[in-house]
Amino acid sequence: MDSIRSLFATPLLQTYLPVQDKILKFVESQEFVYHGNGHITSEDLLDNTQMHVVRDCITERVEEFVYGDCGISSEMEIELISSWANLHKKGDFAQIHSHYNSIISGVWYLTTTPKTGKFVVHSDHKLFGNLLDFPKRVYNEFNNDSYSFIPQNGDLIIFPSTLKHSVTHNEEDIDRFSIAFNYMLRGDMVNGKQTKVKL
Ligand SMILES: [Fe+2]
Repeated sequence: MDSIRSLFATPLLQTYLPVQDKILKFVESQEFVYHGNGHITSEDLLDNTQMHVVRDCITERVEEFVYGDCGISSEMEIELISSWANLHKKGDFAQIHSHYNSIISGVWYLTTTPKTGKFVVHSDHKLFGNLLDFPKRVYNEFNNDSYSFIPQNGDLIIFPSTLKHSVTHNEEDIDRFSIAFNYMLRGDMVNGKQTKVKL
């Protein structure tokens, strides 16, 4: 029987973590710095005692993603290396980017509406090569080179740090808060019979 296979897929976990009022208030009380198209806090947000419950819940989901969905050996340890809050006011956005010096990244949405910005992921590879963009009869998982969705409050998205992503403009006069984070995998990897690579 004929079959078409989707090879070398990119995993992206969409899960949910309810947003508590006290967490939102704490995030809103942080100092934000404008960086040109949005506002961010310092990069140790989840290290604050008030955020430890959130940090532990996110870490649990990251572990499920890495060990469960991605099938990575539990010999590799997961470590949170940075976390910060994003504030998008009306007109703010995030350009296409990926997260360097990190293995797993993600974002948790605290205050969002259908018009405060879509989350868009971008593929590095067009179906038949990056120089040719053929017109499509239909869009599907093979020929799409971007995918977007409208996040809702409490949505938690986890993905490989190499995955390119962006956020469209906030079209509403509402402050859009989210928390982003980077995790590292640490441990020894073998390259050949004798060479060990330590991360
Ligand atoms: Fe990002």
